[in-house]
Amino acid sequence: MNNFDFCVPTDIRFGKGQIQCLPEELGKYGKRILMVYGGGSIKRTGLYDEIMDLLKDFDIYELPGIEPNPKIASVRKGAAICKEKKIDVILAVGGGSSIDASKHIACAAYYDGDPWDLMLDRKRMTKALPIAVVLTLAATGSEMNPGAVITNDETNEKLEIAGKILYPTISICDPTYLYTLPPRQTAAGVADILSHAMEQYFQPTDDAYLTDRITESLMRTVIHYGPIAMKDPENYEARANIMWAGSLGLNHILTVGKGGAWSCHPIEHELSAYYDITHGEGLAIVTPAWMRSVLCDKTVKRFAMFAKNVWGIEADNEREAAEKSIEALEQFFKSMGLPSTLKEVGIGPDKFEEMAREAVRTSGISTRSYYPLNEKEIVKIYEDCAE
Ligand code: NZQ
Ligand code: ZN
Repeated sequence: MNNFDFCVPTDIRFGKGQIQCLPEELGKYGKRILMVYGGGSIKRTGLYDEIMDLLKDFDIYELPGIEPNPKIASVRKGAAICKEKKIDVILAVGGGSSIDASKHIACAAYYDGDPWDLMLDRKRMTKALPIAVVLTLAATGSEMNPGAVITNDETNEKLEIAGKILYPTISICDPTYLYTLPPRQTAAGVADILSHAMEQYFQPTDDAYLTDRITESLMRTVIHYGPIAMKDPENYEARANIMWAGSLGLNHILTVGKGGAWSCHPIEHELSAYYDITHGEGLAIVTPAWMRSVLCDKTVKRFAMFAKNVWGIEADNEREAAEKSIEALEQFFKSMGLPSTLKEVGIGPDKFEEMAREAVRTSGISTRSYYPLNEKEIVKIYEDCAE
């Protein structure tokens, strides 16, 4: 088991009605709030009005219109508001996109140059405004981690900024806010959570027994509750379990004692950088192809463990179990209505080489991942899920 440093400072307020604590909690930082949210779902669901009512004694400035796969232009706008209005605290209301934009804005507010510089050189990130979150989508885990993924659409780069100062100070996680999610977003969120668990499960370290068992439980949880939430969107038990799985899926508890670079995320991030597709859908497409490409004598043992402990698969030998687990995952994604080919999300082969090059350049996939892959092998993965 590797040495580790595990510290999550985010105060999670989980459950129905937890939003009532917002005035008291935000009041600790001051009166001037920048509220960051997406394209309007919070207005349709009534959450916007509820928050405005709760925060009627605060000075609220708004940054609406954060796009899925948030763009650097939104971060620039938010940082300018923070500087001009002397914002005390940022309130992100939404999913990973609004939270990630808020994190980048929070540190850009203390930086004099262009916010994208911080992405390229984290040493320039010295300070950040406090960030509070009201979570409306279970997927990324951004509500309980220090990372933010932002796209520069001028250069087609989708990169991560991360640092301890970017942990949200408080996150309100009320599972009833997930009731209004379109089925597509519920499914994409489940695929993202499952992928986070798999990225950390399929790592070179083999002796973090407890971490592996926790990860398997988390995977079984979303595999069990995903279809229930799809059929019955207001099933509190399903929404609550998925929501908590989302937070634990990427608060680094599943990396404790392990380590290494991720595989499917760098391959997917290029798809959403170049084509603006939904992150979880991209993962559902590439993950089975990645599994097939890395299944070999060296990896078969862990694949067989995944088959048995996550999917309950019994087989005559490890290879057969491993192959069945790939089929089970594909079947699961299909049952959730997720796409399985790039063609279904409108992506053709023109940029496969370019995206593979970028995946290698911007991540540790070719050097530090579970099964290091070069550009050619990544192109083959894109080809395998083309249609
Ligand atoms: O924009 P609005 O109108 O709010 O609608 C959103 C958006 O269209 C909608 N939505 C959210 N909550 C809703 C709702 N609609 C109805 N009812 C609700 N309760 O869902 C759509 C997607 O929202 P978004 O925030 O984009 O989704 P998600 O949480 O999946 O975030 C995706 C982004 O996070 C990044 C992804 O790459 C992508 O850019 N990631 C961030 C990570 C992190 N910070 O740790 C890790 C992940 O691996 C990932 O890369
Ligand atoms: Zn993800």
